[in-house]
Amino acid sequence: MLSEPQVAGPSTVLMRKAYARWAPVYDVVYDKLTEPAARAAVEAASLHGSRILEAGVGTGLALGYYPPGSFVCGVDLSEDMLKRARGKVRRRGFSHVRGLQVMDVCHLGYADESFDAVVAQFLITLVPDPEAALSEFLRVVRPGGGIVLANHFGQDDGPLARVEEIVAPLCTKIGWSSDFKASRIEAWARRNGVEVQGLKPTFPGGFFKILRMRKAG
Ligand SMILES: C[S@@+](CC[C@H](N)C(=O)[O-])C[C@H]1O[C@@H](n2cnc3c(N)ncnc32)[C@H](O)[C@@H]1O
Repeated sequence: MLSEPQVAGPSTVLMRKAYARWAPVYDVVYDKLTEPAARAAVEAASLHGSRILEAGVGTGLALGYYPPGSFVCGVDLSEDMLKRARGKVRRRGFSHVRGLQVMDVCHLGYADESFDAVVAQFLITLVPDPEAALSEFLRVVRPGGGIVLANHFGQDDGPLARVEEIVAPLCTKIGWSSDFKASRIEAWARRNGVEVQGLKPTFPGGFFKILRMRKAG
């Protein structure tokens, strides 16, 4: 099922450096903040079946939310983040986690239709070519399977959209994206015959959203 992982390229080197710095403090900063979105994303993905790919799994904050009997693989560019995910799997005895690999989500080393769903939490806005990542998700999901994203998505228009655009350069510096819009992903979905099933606001105050999509078939 797995072929040689690919992780080269200048932007991937920068990303790995950034997350080498984040890894020791990541859980302290993000665990409680992202828990409701992570639980909602896992629940939405698990409706499609038990074989799940966590793209950009990071330190594995969401791994404990999968139902018993799941078969979860996780990939991430950052070995430092994955080390922490592996530690959780070991300490908490997560037997449903079947592999944690260094891999670029734009070049997945999995065969076509390997998974019932792909979950990407707080990832897609960090990828330089998000459409390439989405196309890889589509390739490795079975027909009728799901692609579930959890993220902050910027407003399409109005005063808040303007604020998000103004603070975007600052957000980029701290590894966030304020102005990436869900409509960009919805446009990709339309072009690729993928059904958008919903965009649901979640904690805190609707700031994070769950975008659910379904591959035709
Ligand atoms: C904000 S963290 C989110 C981690 C995890 N999904 C969570 O919700 O806690 C983003 C993660 O995406 C990973 N990442 C960024 N670009 C990636 C890429 N092209 N391929 C694989 N992982 C990537 C980073 O290394 C980092 O671990």
